[in-house]
Amino acid sequence: MHASDDKIQKLINPIESVAPAPGFGDGSSVPLDIRAQAEADRLGFWADRARELEWQTPFTEVLDWSNPPFARWFHDGKINVAVNCVDRHVAAGNGDRVAIHWEGEPGDTRTITYNDLHREVQRTANLLESFGIGKGDVVAIYLPMIPETVFAMLACARIGAVHSVIFGGFSADAIRSRVDSASAKLVITANGSVRKGRVFPLKETVDKALETPGHSVEKVLVVRRPEHEIDMVDGRDVWWHDVIEGVSDTHEAQAFDAEHPLFILYTSGTTGQPKGLWHASGGYLTQAAYTHRTSFDLRDNDIYWCSADVGWVTGHSYTVYGPLANGATQVMYEGTHDYPSLDRWFEIIERYGVTIFYTAPTAIRGFMKTGREIPLRHNLSSLRVLGSVGEPINPEAWEWFRDVIGSGKTPIVDTWWQTETGAHMIAPLVSQDALKPGSAQRPVPGVVVEVVDENGNRVDPGQMGLLTITEPWPSMARGIWGDDQRFIETYWSQFPGRYFAGDGAGVDLDGDLWLLGRVDDVMNVSGHRLSTAEIEATLDEHPFVAESAVVGADDETTGQAVVAFAVLKHSQREAIAAEDDVETLLRKHVAASIGAIARPKMLFAVEELPKTRSGKIMRRLLKDVSEGKPVGDTSTLTDAAVMDAIAQKVAARL
Ligand code: WT7
Repeated sequence: MHASDDKIQKLINPIESVAPAPGFGDGSSVPLDIRAQAEADRLGFWADRARELEWQTPFTEVLDWSNPPFARWFHDGKINVAVNCVDRHVAAGNGDRVAIHWEGEPGDTRTITYNDLHREVQRTANLLESFGIGKGDVVAIYLPMIPETVFAMLACARIGAVHSVIFGGFSADAIRSRVDSASAKLVITANGSVRKGRVFPLKETVDKALETPGHSVEKVLVVRRPEHEIDMVDGRDVWWHDVIEGVSDTHEAQAFDAEHPLFILYTSGTTGQPKGLWHASGGYLTQAAYTHRTSFDLRDNDIYWCSADVGWVTGHSYTVYGPLANGATQVMYEGTHDYPSLDRWFEIIERYGVTIFYTAPTAIRGFMKTGREIPLRHNLSSLRVLGSVGEPINPEAWEWFRDVIGSGKTPIVDTWWQTETGAHMIAPLVSQDALKPGSAQRPVPGVVVEVVDENGNRVDPGQMGLLTITEPWPSMARGIWGDDQRFIETYWSQFPGRYFAGDGAGVDLDGDLWLLGRVDDVMNVSGHRLSTAEIEATLDEHPFVAESAVVGADDETTGQAVVAFAVLKHSQREAIAAEDDVETLLRKHVAASIGAIARPKMLFAVEELPKTRSGKIMRRLLKDVSEGKPVGDTSTLTDAAVMDAIAQKVAARL
């Protein structure tokens, strides 16, 4: 790992912590001795958290770890996740409470109470069953941020179907590979999503994904969202509003084994093929609900808002399952932060009186760039707690977030976790801890982590190393769908008996943790995980490209930016010469095959890639030049002139 001086400085000379505002923790439901409780009896602690949910059959065993790394939590218990997120609150007399204040990008709104949610989820469950969907069937969901997305996810949970949500910005190829890898029987989509006043064609993308035969999809259920005409395939496609008519809104829920799969969610790894992580019902819900309550110090009158899309794990755990299991009232917003103006998010906070706001550092840095005038012209005084997720938050962004958006008073909870971990793993307790800008600080009570060196030995305070998780936790992914071996190899083989997250971390002299970003070939762009290998494979598929290398270069706003280098084929030089801009063409090719988020910010057509004598591409050198740094040591290259030519080309464009 490359240790930059400022990172080490933080560890040996930590920033002073910020004490909680006087009285802040008063009335919190988070016990002051929660860490001591978890340390005294870890499994008992988790069992108590699980018992805060409603179990149809109580569990008697907390953890079965007899076949690591395949954990079984609460496995002899039976639970229905949707009942816990909906029916339970209605039964407790909270049916009139607002579950979701939904706002569409054009400004239309819907208010959904827990009673409403109860009816809609039951109706949708009946509808899915009428299509022959049942326990264990996989349903692909490719929808915008609309209430039907939540109805669909919870309806799947209610009937024991496994949802696989595909982010609405992904391409037809991405949909097809996800549909194929889990044999999805049903796709739920919309006639389009609304982005910056325009329609993004979701249904056409699904049609394209299913164009070539040989897939498992029997039906496509289509929600009508924007004014946008689409073609319906006879016998396959049905409109949600047509088929839902007259469907009963009462549905008797059955309970499923705690280990029954709840969902699959794909994420990029170090190889070309995304991994479908799957999560089990009881353990996942236990930790999502507990952390949502504890990390944010959730209280009865809070209005919570998480700005993440449900296409990512943050939307699963902290828009759908965590908040709804806790009976919270939340805001759900369909569109982008800058439509029709950069005031949009702040208007929403003001309009609904949002008290807890959970977002990503990239958004905060974006707002820092456009200036404090924009948030400051809104009354944001309702905010009580702010959360950050997706990538390391630099102390400057942390402070700006608190000072400008949080009126100088809100604590900020930096939450480290992953698609694989299902829920928060490292986060301060905002109700009681003094906070340290830029540090995620401590493992969540019940979670045990250790920062180790390459040989697996614990590093001393003031040092950097690799983050490992030493004990199983309830919301851990149960595997990679259909590929147990890959699950073992990817996460459990570097340090036998431990989970290796792929992140570097440091421990400061106070014992607080500082997350330092990925140590593998995974990039983090605006809090989204992208694989260098996947983008390279996509570029290499293009007929013009002989070979390519992709790096994540540090970027002021997005954390990292995708920078690609492609060697073009001489055999194609006539076709290439006929194009006006082959670099733009290749960037578009990546966006079309993976999704717009993967589109390289810069792409350079180069003569050759820098390689060592053994043929390994020196990505580190490419990263340095992309960040405007001088070219480092080139002595191991076969031909140092290759790197000089690339450096010149890049410097001319930076
Ligand atoms: C990777 C996981 C967790 C939901 C969003 C992303 C990075 C995430 C933090 C944080 C530093 C963070 C890590 C991790 N990451 N949160 N608070 N501080 N880094 O989920 O797509 O599964 O990505 O995001 O590198 O490994 P994901």
